[in-house]
Amino acid sequence: MANSINRRNWIKSSALMAGGLVFISGTMNKLAAMPGVRKMIPAAKLVTDQSAILDAPPVLKARLLANENPFGPSPAAKKAIQDAIDLSYQYPMQQTATLYGKIADYEGISQSNILMDAGSSPLLLAAALLYSKGGKSIITGDPSYEDLPSHAEKFEGKWVKVPLTAEYKLDLDAMEAKIDGNTGLIYICNPNNPTGTVLDTVKLKAFCERVSKKVPVFIDEAYIDYLPDPQGTTLISSVKAGQNVIVARTFSKLYGFAGLRCGYIVAQPETIKALSIYTTGFSLSATTVAGAIAGYRETEFLQEAFKKTMASKEYLYSVLKKEGYTYIPSATNFVMFPLKMDGKQFVQEMMKRGVGIRNWKLNGQEWCRVSIGRMDEMEAFADAFKQLS
Ligand SMILES: Cc1ncc(COP(=O)(O)O)c(C=O)c1O
Repeated sequence: MANSINRRNWIKSSALMAGGLVFISGTMNKLAAMPGVRKMIPAAKLVTDQSAILDAPPVLKARLLANENPFGPSPAAKKAIQDAIDLSYQYPMQQTATLYGKIADYEGISQSNILMDAGSSPLLLAAALLYSKGGKSIITGDPSYEDLPSHAEKFEGKWVKVPLTAEYKLDLDAMEAKIDGNTGLIYICNPNNPTGTVLDTVKLKAFCERVSKKVPVFIDEAYIDYLPDPQGTTLISSVKAGQNVIVARTFSKLYGFAGLRCGYIVAQPETIKALSIYTTGFSLSATTVAGAIAGYRETEFLQEAFKKTMASKEYLYSVLKKEGYTYIPSATNFVMFPLKMDGKQFVQEMMKRGVGIRNWKLNGQEWCRVSIGRMDEMEAFADAFKQLS
């Protein structure tokens, strides 16, 4: 009991962005106190209603609420982490440079195109601060991942929300039409969280080529590793073509590193410099770096995790169909479907049965987002769901 209370307080006072959890941290308050940063942030104010998640018991039968990958990290990454502990009294400068080098080599870019941090969240915050300075606006889809624009709004920025298309995809034309003299950034989450939909690559590339001449375009590719052809889909190609495009990637999803914290952005060297002012450049741990070096592009392991995720997703689809529900076909490790009862109540009832999921309200309709877990977790979801549907 005491443990769970301590854990809850600790979570509340930390910066934690996991599949949509957004909390205010001490760091944020320090930043808010900096000159030029207009608004002070109320301590522990939740941006979205996450009370169901905070009240979740530490151990769930099925933890399907933060789009994590329960099949990772890989055995090789775990071994490298263990092996790194002895030397972890040292700052990991050389090892971090090795990791930068591995990513640069694989992507065919220079290390000056890369900025790493403890997950992509601190880099989303850096972009929010830089591009909303002076009251600029951030254009996003609605709903989409709220981390970057909600940070911008807490400081000086404005948030311009553009509804999704009828297929629950980002509406690129409508987003482009919203650009005006006050636009600081366009944020594109592709694939989109929470809907799991993906944009047409040719259309998105053309959009970036056109729009990045007017305003920077931020492409959040947190879930790109779940697509059949990430290399053919990534907008790193637009960065390579010299465009003002920033691509965010994370080890938190298919690599299974959410708790280890490792992410990066790829952009033009001058953009990397401008964004690095808002980061410490020194937040990756020796253990995380060792794990990331061992796990990066570990193709066989990643394919295996991908296959298991797809099998669990197919099972979830079949359960939903059998119970008479529809869903948005997902390109990711989470699925959104319309509920037939109050979303908050549904989350609470599922939580009582040991299953953690999330709810959304969209166009007056209640929705549930289920992360894809192990098969036993999906079966636990199915058992609890059948009792409520
Ligand atoms: C779209 C998207 N971007 C970024 C993040 C942040 O991930 P991390 O800070 O773990 O890299 C998440 C987390 O769920 C996400 O869903």
